[in-house]
Amino acid sequence: MTFIDRPVAIGLDLPRRDGAAKVRGTAVYAYETPVENPAYAHPVQATVARGRVTALDTAAAEVLDGVLAVLTPATAERLASTEDRELAALQDDGVAFRGQVVALVVADSSETARHAAALVRVTYAQEPHDSELRADRDDLYAPERVNPDFPTDTVEGDVAAATAVAAVVVEQTYTTATYHNNPLEPHATTAHWEPADGRLTLWDSTQGVHPARTAVASVFGLDEAKVRVVCPYVGGGFGSKGTPHVNVVLAAMAARAVPGRPVRLALTRQQMFSLAGYRTPTVQRCLLAAERDGRLTALAVDVVEQTSRIKEFAEQTGVPARMMYAVANRRTTHRLAALDVPVPSWMRAPGECPGMFGPEVAMDELAERLGLDPVELRIRNEPVTDPQTGKPFSSRNLVGCLREGAARFGWSGRDPRPGVRRDGDWLVGTGVAASTYPVHRMSKSTAVIRREGDRYVAEIGAADLGTGTWTTLAQIAADALGVPVERVEVRIGDTDHPMATVAGGSSGMSTWGSAVVEAARAFRTRYGAEPPERAEASGSVPPADDRWAMHAFGAQFAEARVHLDTGEIRVPRLLGVFAVGRIVNPRTARSQLVGGMTMGLSMALHEHSVLDPRTGHVVNHDLADYHIAANADVAEVEAHWLDEHDPHVNAMGTKGIGEIGIVGTAAAVSNAVWHACGARVRDLPVTLDKVLPALEDPPGR
Ligand code: MOS
Repeated sequence: MTFIDRPVAIGLDLPRRDGAAKVRGTAVYAYETPVENPAYAHPVQATVARGRVTALDTAAAEVLDGVLAVLTPATAERLASTEDRELAALQDDGVAFRGQVVALVVADSSETARHAAALVRVTYAQEPHDSELRADRDDLYAPERVNPDFPTDTVEGDVAAATAVAAVVVEQTYTTATYHNNPLEPHATTAHWEPADGRLTLWDSTQGVHPARTAVASVFGLDEAKVRVVCPYVGGGFGSKGTPHVNVVLAAMAARAVPGRPVRLALTRQQMFSLAGYRTPTVQRCLLAAERDGRLTALAVDVVEQTSRIKEFAEQTGVPARMMYAVANRRTTHRLAALDVPVPSWMRAPGECPGMFGPEVAMDELAERLGLDPVELRIRNEPVTDPQTGKPFSSRNLVGCLREGAARFGWSGRDPRPGVRRDGDWLVGTGVAASTYPVHRMSKSTAVIRREGDRYVAEIGAADLGTGTWTTLAQIAADALGVPVERVEVRIGDTDHPMATVAGGSSGMSTWGSAVVEAARAFRTRYGAEPPERAEASGSVPPADDRWAMHAFGAQFAEARVHLDTGEIRVPRLLGVFAVGRIVNPRTARSQLVGGMTMGLSMALHEHSVLDPRTGHVVNHDLADYHIAANADVAEVEAHWLDEHDPHVNAMGTKGIGEIGIVGTAAAVSNAVWHACGARVRDLPVTLDKVLPALEDPPGR
């Protein structure tokens, strides 16, 4: 067998290897893993937002035919670690948010478990709760760091002094809504304890089998070697399955409470609105000061957002503004309110996604004030080096994305005045926003490359949460080995494979791919051109080259139509151009980018979790009331990319594409809505009630 020393598989437009199994329904998901005699668990949730459980009457549930156990803080096992209070299920009688789990029923069928859960009578000593985020609260605090490990505040130069002498200043408050991840597959687990040796197996829907194992082993005080987590397929996660939530702990507890029986637990759609994380609402005070020619002289982004009382999550909303544009005087701050609300967490592009809304609408407002084209304004503020670190960019093609996008979208000749284009009863406008996402690569992850007869196997505990890992990792392995991709098999999604980090921060391909390339190099070094039929080598992620600032960029263009009489908003066209390094597989890449843009459209126009501060309850906690963009809302969505070769990011030249598609989309839509009708909508989502006042007397009417 001879190796081929040129790219043979990276860049191929291959269909997903798991596609047929998913379409035919033979791909096995966590909840449906075949096991002997499974039982089913269903949580009982608190109906108050703060207080204590004073009594739990489980009698009616326990006598029900088919009920096997009812776990309460009095009867549930004591966990070894309660440090992560989100995961410390049923350890005390406190209620820290509405929807928190106060009991768990295990039964022969899911229907019985659910029915019995409804029969559990809970009495509370209710305390006054506080679930309302406002920027003028007097109890806001500065977290020590923001997610995952950025400084909370940054100051460079003198914002006030520069603002005082600036030709133009835009200073406005922008807000983003609360959003909930709604993957098609709910958070689901099948748990099984081996009676003989106490080993725990979890078939869990997760973005990382090894991180899930670490968390569960710690909660139960187990040696990690005694826990196996398996997850070949995930029906979407978007970050909500990137950190383990309480459901996986509950499933394991339930299975231990009914010895010898595996237990299945799937959160209902409604339960996902309180138990699976969400994107915090944000209040962003943004300031831009500029010279007459558009060059920025000062920028400030001061963010207020929420976290829960039991666990801190500080979204890094102000972080992207630190590196986006050339501006000498900069300030970013984050302040949190710890409220009686469910625990917020990751949702596609935490930080960048909300954090590119305020500043990118502010840039549009600045362009308006200066009478400058918004594409040109951004180009004029292009930095030579990273404003935050002073490092050179490994590659930065924002200008290329803006120019290519403008050309493809048909931007030139755009009349800058709002409300002047009309098509029948519709006002028509276009908008642009920039997009960015950091290139993350985790420092740990190991892969094994093995020859098994006439096949090669790449093995690593990586995840495919619908992104295409089964296919793209094979392409990377094939290239690194120099063999046809058909001869490479990938084995992922199991802690029995070598350790892999989470599919999060758009780091999957860059991290696991780096490990696979190292393993393939070691394999070829060890065996040369003629490896034996049984051969094996492993490799781990090499250290990153920290001389460079590494980020992906993009430009988002949107067309919006606003109905003159009703204020209805339609977005017939979205077009994004991205500079995201090397594209491993155009088919799966396009799907990621288009998916992100669609989620951004949904964020811009539809999605909004309505938390009623009187009850601490997300009142629209189902897919009837929480509207996610449906087919009728999504028209033309085009994703393109520049041919970018970045030798510094990693051996493949990949930058990560899972999240950047959602970044900037909502700003582009809001900017297009302004251009259509003259209504500047600074708080998401952009709904018709917010544009109607402008339609009373539209600019061009
Ligand atoms: Mo993504 S929100 O980093 O899973």
